[in-house]
Amino acid sequence: MYRWSRLILILLCGILSSSSAEARSGLKDVLGRYFLIGSCLNHHQSAGRDERATRIVDRHFNVVVAENIMKPGPLEPREGEFDFRAADELVAYTRQHGLALTGHCLIWHSQIPDWFFRDGEGPASRELLTERIRRHVTAVVTHFKGKVKGWDVVNEAIEWDGSYRRSPFYNILGEDFIEIAFRAAHEADPDVELYYNDYSMDIPAKRQAVCRMVRRLKERGVRIDGVGMQSHVGLVYPRLNDYEASIDSFAACGVKVMITELDVNVLPNPDQFGGAAIDQSYEYRQKWNPYTEGLPADVEKQLEERWLSLFEVYYRHRHQISRVNLWGIADHHSWLNGWPIPGRTNYPLLFDREYREKPVVKKIIALFRGQ
Ligand code: G3I
Repeated sequence: MYRWSRLILILLCGILSSSSAEARSGLKDVLGRYFLIGSCLNHHQSAGRDERATRIVDRHFNVVVAENIMKPGPLEPREGEFDFRAADELVAYTRQHGLALTGHCLIWHSQIPDWFFRDGEGPASRELLTERIRRHVTAVVTHFKGKVKGWDVVNEAIEWDGSYRRSPFYNILGEDFIEIAFRAAHEADPDVELYYNDYSMDIPAKRQAVCRMVRRLKERGVRIDGVGMQSHVGLVYPRLNDYEASIDSFAACGVKVMITELDVNVLPNPDQFGGAAIDQSYEYRQKWNPYTEGLPADVEKQLEERWLSLFEVYYRHRHQISRVNLWGIADHHSWLNGWPIPGRTNYPLLFDREYREKPVVKKIIALFRGQ
């Protein structure tokens, strides 16, 4: 009798401890079996000054990315003058918290100083801009060698219709600027992963253009390891069949697929609004900001269903996806409170304004645990 009761006691302890371990499991403990799971950090957070955010990072995430401080402007505000102080704090934070780090971003037409594209009063020549891209990429990638797992080498170079964005990079160098940037990054650190990153990647014409670009780089012997689908989504866009088709198409190009800036915009927007082009902005109207006192139950339910449908897609494509990165820790941190209309109250992330885990987090974990 004693032996049986002892055996039952041991079994019960086993069940209790595993259920309590399950209860303590964070996103990284379960989703981390398939891909890196993380978030962007703002400067306050990457300097370790947001303790409540750090508690969420420690519990749920194994990768982070800088929301702003590793972009061209913050790193090289004046030609040849680099300021790595804030980014070095982020590197220290990742070391302290056992996190992988993605570099965002080396070449982008936004948050980049005008000097990049000018020569005195006129535009920079092809040669000068090529040299500046090489110098910036080489200096930055060299500085972070061994500290960054992979870089968003080029960000947002393709338009919705599949054409190249008429950025100053393209206007001066044509599509060559992309290869120049990727080659410079690889020469500076042959071991670091290299990515192309963009939004609205569900759109077939954009998807096909990115696939063409990836194939062309590979044909020319240029290293590219991954494609980042930013995934700034809404309650009803993108259509998930288009979104999944893009995951499959990018994977078929022989690169890792990454969900790099995930958030779910629940607010109504002007008809013309779309994508994530930062230069869109509209005048404030109360009708665009209907949930200042919290979400109605029906919207809350729609939002949770949208999160689960997205993570069901990531579960189905878990062998093609290498990273899922949210674009912010808690709702009040999100850029979507101020874009494309300033002064709004949005609810786009997995943790609320009190840093509380939304109920959907446990449902996402259960989904990946196969429950
Ligand atoms: O740092 C300055 C500060 O000194 C100044 O006082 C303040 C007031 O103007 O501006 C601060 O810079 C702001 C910066 O965020 C840091 O807070 C810029 O104005 C603001 O435009 C910038 O917005 C960022 C946006 O990119 C534009 O670059 C957002 O935080 C960031 O979430 C967003 O992220 C981008 C990705 O990098 C690429 N994909 C799209 C995504 C959303 O636009």
